[in-house]
Amino acid sequence: MAIYFEEPSRTFNEYLLVPGYTSNHHIPENVTLATPLTKYRRGEEQPAISLQIPMISAIMQAVSDDNMAIALAREGGMSFIYGSQTIEDQAAMVARVKDYKAGFVTSDANLSPEMTLKDVIALRDTLGHSTMPVTEGGRAHGKLLGIVTSRDYRLSRMDTTEKVSSFMTPVEKMIVAPADTTLKTANDIIWEHKLNSLPVVDDQGCLLYLVFRKDYDSHKSNPQELLDTHKRYMVGAGINTRDYAQRVPALVEAGADVLCIDSSEGYSDWQKFTLQWIREHYGNTVKVGAGNVVDAEGFRFLADAGADFIKIGIGGGSICITREQKGIGRGQATATIEVARARDEYFKETGVYIPLCSDGGIVYDHHITLALAMGADFVMLGRYFARFDESPTNRVNVNGSYMKEYWGEGSARARNWQRYDLGGDKKGMTFEEGVDSYVPYAGSLHDNVAVTLAKVKSTMCNCGAVSIPELQEKAKLTVISSTSIIEGGAHDVVLKDKSNYGSSSI
Ligand code: IMP
Repeated sequence: MAIYFEEPSRTFNEYLLVPGYTSNHHIPENVTLATPLTKYRRGEEQPAISLQIPMISAIMQAVSDDNMAIALAREGGMSFIYGSQTIEDQAAMVARVKDYKAGFVTSDANLSPEMTLKDVIALRDTLGHSTMPVTEGGRAHGKLLGIVTSRDYRLSRMDTTEKVSSFMTPVEKMIVAPADTTLKTANDIIWEHKLNSLPVVDDQGCLLYLVFRKDYDSHKSNPQELLDTHKRYMVGAGINTRDYAQRVPALVEAGADVLCIDSSEGYSDWQKFTLQWIREHYGNTVKVGAGNVVDAEGFRFLADAGADFIKIGIGGGSICITREQKGIGRGQATATIEVARARDEYFKETGVYIPLCSDGGIVYDHHITLALAMGADFVMLGRYFARFDESPTNRVNVNGSYMKEYWGEGSARARNWQRYDLGGDKKGMTFEEGVDSYVPYAGSLHDNVAVTLAKVKSTMCNCGAVSIPELQEKAKLTVISSTSIIEGGAHDVVLKDKSNYGSSSI
């Protein structure tokens, strides 16, 4: 006979946290959001990888490329580079994150001495910055010949056909630093000589990087950065249950710190086979998450199959139409609560703590706190990150408002059919599980994450918790009625300015 779950499956919106005792120790400055990413023997060892903040970005074309990965690692979170691209392209994105030296910028505008002032102006207008190194042939890593900054030319006095070689500051008059210069030394040189930028060159005099005064400042203001033992940003990557024998080695070679099987439904043999293959070839040295599941049975299956972390969620994503199309899924809150219980039982039995990720359906900042209180160790967000400057999509003007594009991996646009693997030939895929959409442009990742986490920390203090495990232990959650949802927003007043209304979705 079919199994009926007695309780309706609920979403985050149907819950609130009831405050606990807040002592004078429970203040936001004392809250740590560090959280494990991979499984470990709690009480006996530390997790191989932890996050500084409980946020990872979704394995999606419209969300997680190398640029997003660098921006999020800078804040202490992690991106999983999307797998719905060729193995070579995905590995190159991973390598770009690992090669990125914080504060060391690869110049995107190199001039050749034969170019003219007109070219300089055109580049300045397209790129928005005015410091441009001059190299042999204008090559990215060509021999450094000089530099042009806005101080080297005056449009009103000069002919735009004038050659770069005639007005650049030649390399003989510049201060340059050798390849092994640390960021701290570079900054000392910048201050001592009152420079705005410092080129770093190899022993042949070829340009490697520029260090800017402003970047050093921003590096200093990100103490939470998620770095590996070589002080490189950490990055994850999505894999599928089809080409893992080729994709996994390429991603590992490129330096991916952790992998995640990207699938809409993870309680399947295909996930087990993928995990088995990784264990056979890499033992436990390659960390890999699996999912998505929405109940205890699915959790146990992936735990036994060896997953390092497990993702929860089917059908709750903002661009997701899986529930409509196929009638599978579960309210995200109910799924998180049940899977977290199964995880805690597994821990009691085995001593192994498997971190859980609540994936999709975060609409308000406080949904993150709810997910953590319900037992998730971190959350995966797509729509949230798609809205920022750092996401891979263009900012477009739609009827006077700035928007960013955001599309599902199961949409005809992404064509990530491997995500929906049920064996057989994917060419026959005849229906979509995701939509193509716009989301309101929201500015920089740094500013938005700061506000979101300030709210999370504040609520944690209300609940008497200064860490995520403490929140999970102490949280008191209540189901709310539909009328109390109305009571929870501004009501029975006429708003003066709706755009400033703080409880609108993020
Ligand atoms: P969001 O944060 O609510 O936008 O949800 C993002 C999550 O939706 C992702 O991490 C995926 O788990 C899921 N997702 C991505 N693309 C699709 C799709 O096309 N259909 C269904 N779910 C999707």
